[in-house]
Amino acid sequence: MPWLGLGVWRAQEGGEVENAVKTAIRVGYRSIDTAAMYGNEVGVGRAVRESGVPREELFITTKVWNTDQGYDSTLAAFEASLQRLGMDYVDLYLIHWPVAGKYKETWKALEKIYRDGRARAIGVSNFQIHHLEDLMADAEIKPMVNQVEFHPHLTQKELRAYCSQHGIQVEAWRPLMKGEVANVPEIRELAAKYGKTPAQIVLRWNLQHGVVTIPKSVKEYRIRENADVFDFELSQEDMAKLDGLNRNQRFGPDPDNFDF
Ligand SMILES: NC(=O)c1ccc[n+]([C@@H]2O[C@H](COP(=O)([O-])OP(=O)(O)OC[C@H]3O[C@@H](n4cnc5c(N)ncnc54)[C@H](OP(=O)(O)O)[C@@H]3O)[C@@H](O)[C@H]2O)c1
Repeated sequence: MPWLGLGVWRAQEGGEVENAVKTAIRVGYRSIDTAAMYGNEVGVGRAVRESGVPREELFITTKVWNTDQGYDSTLAAFEASLQRLGMDYVDLYLIHWPVAGKYKETWKALEKIYRDGRARAIGVSNFQIHHLEDLMADAEIKPMVNQVEFHPHLTQKELRAYCSQHGIQVEAWRPLMKGEVANVPEIRELAAKYGKTPAQIVLRWNLQHGVVTIPKSVKEYRIRENADVFDFELSQEDMAKLDGLNRNQRFGPDPDNFDF
């Protein structure tokens, strides 16, 4: 799984998402994160086909939406996603949110999809430790990835430790706090110190924590900026400084209290 990918939430279906994905692939991204709920799988699929990069060199993630959870409905939702993407497999299929009373049946469907070779990996998103424990109590295959909100104001220390202990790769969503990282004075200071941008400081912090990251942008200069994070290293002291910005603050919904 690539350490860095392009997120496409809120990239408009059609020209906007197609341009973003094609630009990203042209400048070297090999991983794209979409979801049925984003309504842009058709554009992602078209951009991948037109990118000129062979499908097997790319890592495509999509997710089953909450209203499709359950065994049969997940199998059907997966087929619909593949059809929209114009693909015969995905690299990673995720349960988008831990819908109470549903996610275990959904997981059984993901296990079948994985065994059938139609998703190279399967995982979850927005699962807290108790959700993972509950899921794994009955699962035959354990989740390979947990994609969660993660940034300097929500550092997810306990969840990351738990996932690491269980061999579950953590992946960060909203890594840039939707661009807000640029307004945090401590991050701006580190950016000046390393000659990098605030976004690059934070993405580098993700990588040095062993967290896969998927910043979203539809702008070429930012798509390039966000990928230019492999030529410097934050000191342990500066990693700790970023860790110290934790406030357990969510910009997105709370996985223990959502109503969608
Ligand atoms: N599993 C889930 O429940 C879940 C939830 C949310 C998101 N996600 C995934 O995670 C991806 C990333 O999260 P996100 O899109 O919510 O937030 P994000 O990546 O933290 O921030 C994206 C926002 O920041 C701007 N931006 C991008 N690069 C920037 C830079 N270098 N400097 C300043 N601003 C920048 C973008 O604007 P422009 O596009 O105008 O550049 C966009 O408004 C999503 O696209 C999606 O794939 C998953």
